[in-house]
Amino acid sequence: MSEELNININLGKEEKYKQLLPQLTALLNDEEDMVAKQANFCAALKYGMDFFWVGFYKVQGNELILGPFQGPVACTRISKGKGVCGTAWENEQTIIVGDVDLFPGHIACSSLSKSEIVVPVFDASGKVALVLDVDATEVNIFDEIDKKYLERLVRLIY
Ligand code: SME
Repeated sequence: MSEELNININLGKEEKYKQLLPQLTALLNDEEDMVAKQANFCAALKYGMDFFWVGFYKVQGNELILGPFQGPVACTRISKGKGVCGTAWENEQTIIVGDVDLFPGHIACSSLSKSEIVVPVFDASGKVALVLDVDATEVNIFDEIDKKYLERLVRLIY
C-alpha cells in the first residue's frame, strides 16, 4: 500500500472517530445503567466504524465474563492473563494485535477475526472493571489512532 493511500485511510478513520465522540457522549450522558451504556457503545462503534466485532468483558473475580457486544457469538469466560483480553487486563494496558495468529495464546472466537485491539476500562477507583475488545477481518487494521480514540471513548462508560 502506498504511503499516500495509507495516510488517506488513516485520515478517514480519524474523521470517523471525531464524529463518533460527540454522538457517543450525548448517547451515554443521558443514561446511568451500565449495561445499557455498554450496549449502545458497541452498536455505535461497530456500525460507525464498520468493525467485525465490538464487545465488553466484565472483570469478575479471577476471570472476564462476556458482556454487551455486537457481532457473532463469542467465548463467555477468559481467565486473567489469558488471551489478548486477559493480558490487557493483567497489564492494565491497551494491546494492539496486527495478526492474531502471531499472538501467543490468542483465543479465537471466530476464524474470521484477523486483528484486534483490547482496551482496559478503569472504574472511578482506578481499577480495571471491563475490557473493550474490537476485532477486524483484516490484518493490521488497528494502530495508534484507534488506541487514542478508543481509550478516550471508553472513559465515557464510567
Ligand atoms: N480474541 C480474544 C477473545 C475474545 S474474542 O476475540 C471476541 C482474546 O484473545 O482475548
